[in-house]
Amino acid sequence: MIPQVEIFPDLTSLIDCALVLTLAAINRAISTDDRCTLVLAGGNTPKPLYEKLADLTLPWEKIHIFWGDERYVPISHTDSNAGMAMAAWLNHVPIPAENIHPMPTAGSPQADAQAYDQHLQDFFGLGPADFPCFDLVFLGLGPDGHTASLFPHTAALEIKDRNVTLGQKDQEPRITLTVPVLNQAQSILFLVTGSNKQEALSQIFAPVGDSALFPARLIQPTKGELVWLLDEAAGQNFHPSSALG
Ligand code: 6PG
Repeated sequence: MIPQVEIFPDLTSLIDCALVLTLAAINRAISTDDRCTLVLAGGNTPKPLYEKLADLTLPWEKIHIFWGDERYVPISHTDSNAGMAMAAWLNHVPIPAENIHPMPTAGSPQADAQAYDQHLQDFFGLGPADFPCFDLVFLGLGPDGHTASLFPHTAALEIKDRNVTLGQKDQEPRITLTVPVLNQAQSILFLVTGSNKQEALSQIFAPVGDSALFPARLIQPTKGELVWLLDEAAGQNFHPSSALG
């Protein structure tokens, strides 16, 4: 599977492209399954995309929103990934409340990770050995090479028998989708901005490298498409010939 990499002169053009790809994925999923499942990312980069989606008229009752990871804080907290997407987008459109599936953060991290795993199994009607196939997953990239809450040299990277597990950053618990779930998606869209991502990108796209140190290397969809949208600052030293084959 060869990832598609696009480099844009600025955030505006990157987000315009992300919006086109998002709408195409929504249309594709709804025309095939009469439903679209989206997985949202945190971070600053996707926020203007969410704000653009807030201005659109879409068949909201057919769109279901999940999250790839979450900080273990209430949705009202400024660090909440779900809270950010609610404020930028979901609070402004007539999407049914039951179509919004934030990761729970009110009990214990372990129990809430298990509860979200069970929620995915129930929503998708999965057997214990099956993984959900999301229609579109947004991912960000940290300067350390993490994506979702799959941080370097953490146990979460090794989890292959669950949909959801615990992540950890700076001793703080996170909840995250696991690598096999992300890789099962129909479409994965990385949104990456900033010159501080250059080193991680060169390591992620190197033909040989360390996935424990640069976890985004692990994101390689088994059957879906993988698209990386970079701004010029992130993509400055990126050489397409280094794309993973
Ligand atoms: C976190 C951050 C992180 C973020 C990336 C990209 O939880 O540590 O949210 O995962 O998504 O660092 O962030 P930017 O889009 O702001 O560069």
